[in-house]
Amino acid sequence: MNSNVKMKLNSFLKFLREAFIVDFSKPLSIKNQFMVMFVTLFVSTILFAVVCVVNNSLIGVSGVSPAAPALQETSAEASTGTAIVSSPQESSQKVIDSTTLLQKMTTLQKSYDEIYNGDLILVNKDHDCHHDGENVVSLLNVKTNTYIVADVSVSVDRSIVDNVNEMFDDFYALYGESDVMIACGYRSSELQSALYDAEAEQKGDDASSWVAPPGYSEHQTSYAFDLDLLIEDGTSGIDYDGEGIYAWINENCYQYGFILRYLKGKETITGYEHEPWHFRYVGIPAATYMMKHGITLEEYIQMLEKNYSAENPLVIEGDDDKVWCTYYVKADEGSDTDIPVPKNYRYTVSGDNFSGFIVTAAINDDSFSVESSQEEESEERDSYEEPVYDDESDYDYDDYDTEE
Ligand code: DAL
Ligand code: ZN
Repeated sequence: MNSNVKMKLNSFLKFLREAFIVDFSKPLSIKNQFMVMFVTLFVSTILFAVVCVVNNSLIGVSGVSPAAPALQETSAEASTGTAIVSSPQESSQKVIDSTTLLQKMTTLQKSYDEIYNGDLILVNKDHDCHHDGENVVSLLNVKTNTYIVADVSVSVDRSIVDNVNEMFDDFYALYGESDVMIACGYRSSELQSALYDAEAEQKGDDASSWVAPPGYSEHQTSYAFDLDLLIEDGTSGIDYDGEGIYAWINENCYQYGFILRYLKGKETITGYEHEPWHFRYVGIPAATYMMKHGITLEEYIQMLEKNYSAENPLVIEGDDDKVWCTYYVKADEGSDTDIPVPKNYRYTVSGDNFSGFIVTAAINDDSFSVESSQEEESEERDSYEEPVYDDESDYDYDDYDTEE
């Protein structure tokens, strides 16, 4: 290396030393003050950029405002979410914002009395049942052979037979046991009255923590049933506790639309002691939400009523990438209620049994059963329109089509 090059190199190294090595024990020169500011700014910018990239890749969302809450909320008080749907065919996740989910709406009219119908009706000590077995079927005639019924009187609502059969078929396929017995399903008000009196004779005032008074039992809805286990001699049942292999039923019942209705720790809300044997059909979306969040039907309905409307629906994510939207519509007491329902998605409407309707729409669930009026309409139309995920039309609530 010749001396000229060496000199140039030495002076460059000296420049670098003076520029970047700062002796903080002495007052800083103006040049060093600028250098410290520059380095601090540079490092902060790099750190900020790294934090942004990590944050975006963690939630898997791009182009969504950080203020928009992600769907995977754990609180029952969760606000409207953003569903991230990944279909097996797509490698990238598709972001569905709930405000664009239900853009194309129409109106369904229901009379006030229809708040007493549907699979989400709340029957408890405050709300009596307005049904008496209109649509029941004896399970003995329609059940599969993977479970037992106590006798021919054990009946449930016709609409839930497939769900009951599938749940026990799947349990049998997994564990090879067919000793689960449905001890009772639908109960008339008279039968409930006899049960209540018998319990009161045995337990006195405590009876009301275990047995509902006549007219106020979920069993009267025909959407509820109690399980027992058959003892070996086949003559009678023993109490079902949902433990051991049977825990599978209690943990997976939501996949078939059932919830455990009387949860441990929720006695003051439900009004009853913990009953691991009492199942209630509420439909798969609601059951999924309630089971995953550990809340009761009372809490679920109250949460919808307080926080979720057609303009601001709750998005529920289920197993196998299923997604539903649900919201509450208050009933008009003096006249029919105009219920906003989606044009492009299958939906159901259930009364809550005291003040309104709950609409549940399948955003991504081909197996979702639909409102019967929608079924008729779809026959006329032949097929559903494809769901829309884009923002092509403004959501105008004053411009509903009215369904005939
Ligand atoms: N055991 C429940 C509360 C009923 O009697 O309906
Ligand atoms: Zn029961």
